[in-house]
Amino acid sequence: MGKSDDEPNGDDWPDVERRGHPDRRSGYLTRIPVRRDRRSGHDRRDDSTWARVPLELTLADEKITDESLIAAATDARTRAQAPYSGFKVGAALETTDGAVVTGCNIENATYGLTLCAERVALVKALSDGRTSFTRIAVVADTEAPTPPCGPCRQLLWEYCGDIDVILANLERTTATLRLADLLPLPFDRRLLK
Ligand code: THU
Repeated sequence: MGKSDDEPNGDDWPDVERRGHPDRRSGYLTRIPVRRDRRSGHDRRDDSTWARVPLELTLADEKITDESLIAAATDARTRAQAPYSGFKVGAALETTDGAVVTGCNIENATYGLTLCAERVALVKALSDGRTSFTRIAVVADTEAPTPPCGPCRQLLWEYCGDIDVILANLERTTATLRLADLLPLPFDRRLLK
């Protein structure tokens, strides 16, 4: 069954089965930190020791691990605009086609217009035409897990369905959950029929 404009995730939406292993063909919206051999400008080793690897192959081989998703969220967190709360949050949303879209919280002097990191990542992804998601990582500098707030849970459920939610601080993963566990008995479009 195909998608239609008013059913962004398909007929059986929210579609938990859609959470397949992402294919890697479409590349990254955001560069995520991956371990690579580095070579400084002063390195005078013979170029022949550096094998050429086709770009497509390199992208296909890079697995988006929980750790790299957390690293992308940690990096996004450094761009948080949080002068009022001082509470910086980063998020990284993985799409089913292997892209990673990041967000950070953006505060405002009115307070009420504050945008959470999760929602920033989500609206960036949707506005770029990314509509199918597998995981989100959320990073804050807290000892206890920092889970998405209520409105973010509702919006993530609307557009992502029952994705994995990985919570981390600057040192370690603090919790790994499913969105359905964070939002039991959700109100969603199924009730509007
Ligand atoms: N915040 C997020 O960005 N995500 C969360 O999961 C929790 C809260 C932000 C909103 C606000 O800028 C600051 O953290 C304090 O609430």
